[in-house]
Amino acid sequence: MKRYGLIGEHLGHSYSKVIHEQLADYTYDLIPLSNEEFHHFMSAKEFAAINVTIPYKCEVMEYLDRLDESAAHVGAVNTIVNQEGVLTGYNTDYSGFLYTLNKHQITIKDKKVLVLGYGGASRAILAVLKDLGAKEIVVANRTQKDITITYQEAMECHADASVIINTTSVGMFPNVDATPISLAPFADLTAVVDIIYNPTTTKLLKEAKDRNILGVNGLEMLIAQAKDACQFFLDTKIADEAIDQILDSLTAELNKKDK
Ligand code: ATR
Repeated sequence: MKRYGLIGEHLGHSYSKVIHEQLADYTYDLIPLSNEEFHHFMSAKEFAAINVTIPYKCEVMEYLDRLDESAAHVGAVNTIVNQEGVLTGYNTDYSGFLYTLNKHQITIKDKKVLVLGYGGASRAILAVLKDLGAKEIVVANRTQKDITITYQEAMECHADASVIINTTSVGMFPNVDATPISLAPFADLTAVVDIIYNPTTTKLLKEAKDRNILGVNGLEMLIAQAKDACQFFLDTKIADEAIDQILDSLTAELNKKDK
């Protein structure tokens, strides 16, 4: 019953096991589940605490007894704690992204922010940006859904954005030469956050670096959300220094791979 781990559909490239087993003294299993297996797993409740990833972050909510404020606010759950059969859902993608912004002193208040992508990861990020008081949030996506515009429109009509956040997988290994947009039109740009971490410097982040614009990848957010999840799992407090230590070791490992 003391099982910890991550459920999702495809977990082959996940770093969560490596991260969690550095955060705490437990075994953290990667548990890939088909849709049918997912429903069985959630009904059986044979776990102490789990993380949830694509594509089950919303679907999982129907199995929960309680939602904490963060999960209710975002409308998605990435962390579940099982207390004697009572399941509580949390969203630490929210706090992980907030940690990254604070760590790099990226201010959002009164700024115009362009978000690339409108999938699962984008939802927690949009909630943070709203809560931090962004002046305007523009969301661009390949497929048009309710609030989105195209990447072309974003470049043509919203070149005054001062922060850009990529929440898509465009530019992720092995498609490292792909990029969702060109940064060239954005004259007022001060920071770019790319939630991709493999490679550690995507083509988008290279372009930011070449223009002396602050660029941050998604590794810190990934580790920060894992730390917050681990705190809920074990009902304990872990120092932020743990994030820095794991960040250094994983960055070194990923950079070795890139060569
Ligand atoms: P996540 O939970 O990581 O956000 P997701 O829900 O599958 O994953 O969302 C992936 C995002 O990346 C979406 O915005 C998706 O765009 P679509 O809604 O048009 O599918 C975007 N994305 C993925 N592959 C893409 C590609 N090759 N070109 C452009 N956008 C892409």
